[in-house]
Amino acid sequence: LFEAVIFDLDGVIVSTDNYHFLAWGRMCEEEGIKFNSEINHRLRGVSRMESLNIILENTEKQYSNLEKEQLAKRKNDYYRNSLSSLSDDDLLPGVRSVLDYLKNKGVRVAIGSSSKNTPMILKQVKLNNYFDAVSDGNDIVNSKPDPEVFLLAAKKLGIEPEKCLVIEDAMAGVEAAHRGRMKVAAIGDAANSSQADYILGELEDLKKVIN
Ligand code: G6P
Ligand code: MG
Repeated sequence: LFEAVIFDLDGVIVSTDNYHFLAWGRMCEEEGIKFNSEINHRLRGVSRMESLNIILENTEKQYSNLEKEQLAKRKNDYYRNSLSSLSDDDLLPGVRSVLDYLKNKGVRVAIGSSSKNTPMILKQVKLNNYFDAVSDGNDIVNSKPDPEVFLLAAKKLGIEPEKCLVIEDAMAGVEAAHRGRMKVAAIGDAANSSQADYILGELEDLKKVIN
């Protein structure tokens, strides 16, 4: 049924979703802006500047475009600082096993992530040469829930969207996959979504979907 699996990165392959949370949290604390895990929930899969705009809905303060760029840069500096100690120990449970399983089955594997830090992360976790295609925040104009990043991944693989399965932990990503005519398996934060085609209690459950 599926010829390729397109993985989201943050919160699916690697536990960097928590580092995003901590970095935004630090910036917000310094600025006196309200921030909590409910607000963070809405940032999953969403680009850096769009994330900042969502965060700024919680303050009366007005920031100029230049100030907004500086806030986003400050957050990204904190975030990249935490990435420098990232290693393959930070791969989420089941990642190695599932990737090897798919390779053995001849299923192509790709990354579809809104993050501009994707190349650095893949390098830190030693997966920079593993995927058949990588489509990330550096390649796209519109981030999830727009399907652009997934459609580009399919195009890079040379496989029709209908034959791709997306793995996502973000609601924005579940919507993006569907808008790209792809099926989607939800895990983690998105796993209680009624929108997903498959729900994965853990990543290893993917072996039951692709068998
Ligand atoms: C992923 C994460 C988002 C993040 C986005 C941009 O989609 O789930 O939380 O905002 O990437 O990340 P970046 O590393 O480019 O700031
Ligand atoms: Mg994610």
